[in-house]
Amino acid sequence: MKFFIDTANLDQIKEAKDLGILDGVTTNPSLMAKEGIVGQDNILKHYAKICELVEGDVSAEVISTDFDGMVKEGKILATIAPNIVVKVPIIKEGVKAISWFTKNDIKTNCTLVFSVGQALIAAKAGATYLSPFIGRVDDTNWDGVQLISDIADLYQMQGFMTEILAASIRNSKHIVDAGLAGADVVTCPLSSITGLLKHPLTDIGLEKFLSDHRKANAGA
Ligand code: E4P
Repeated sequence: MKFFIDTANLDQIKEAKDLGILDGVTTNPSLMAKEGIVGQDNILKHYAKICELVEGDVSAEVISTDFDGMVKEGKILATIAPNIVVKVPIIKEGVKAISWFTKNDIKTNCTLVFSVGQALIAAKAGATYLSPFIGRVDDTNWDGVQLISDIADLYQMQGFMTEILAASIRNSKHIVDAGLAGADVVTCPLSSITGLLKHPLTDIGLEKFLSDHRKANAGA
């Protein structure tokens, strides 16, 4: 399972990279705005900085909602670096754009996915990645992890190559559950990644090992 970090914050990307487990980055317009990155030039420069930091795929989302605009934006984004993936929403024009990018060897991440039907059409269009939003599904009192599981079953039965990228991860348990449900990739906030490390018995056990060592070696 690949680990992506879901942020446009360069320090957090560096921190995740230093763990040695980072396979890529996802961003969206809200995450870029949160970092104060505004204006097309600054946005493109910021994507370039992220692409310099990580070798893996970096998703950069289009703002246009019409086919021509998405293709125009996607072509510009794709020139930033070879690891750019153009992120496109699952709307009618988006499906047309994903088909076009697929035919033109530009990688895509189909985003804002909330149903198996949307996952089916995105895979038919040849999306490289599919982003079902686990947390936002949970927010509607439905089951985001079950959505991942259903899509994974469908893709396996039908032999689709689109990678399932579990997004809108809200906690460390989501990461484990998404993996068990068949996600190929998880994109997570840094806190959910580091949260995987935490267990009180690890802290207690380590303290005991160190204090036993100190006692045994006192004066040695
Ligand atoms: C990433 O690709 C998505 O845009 C992101 O995970 C959405 O997360 P949110 O639901 O926490 O905004």
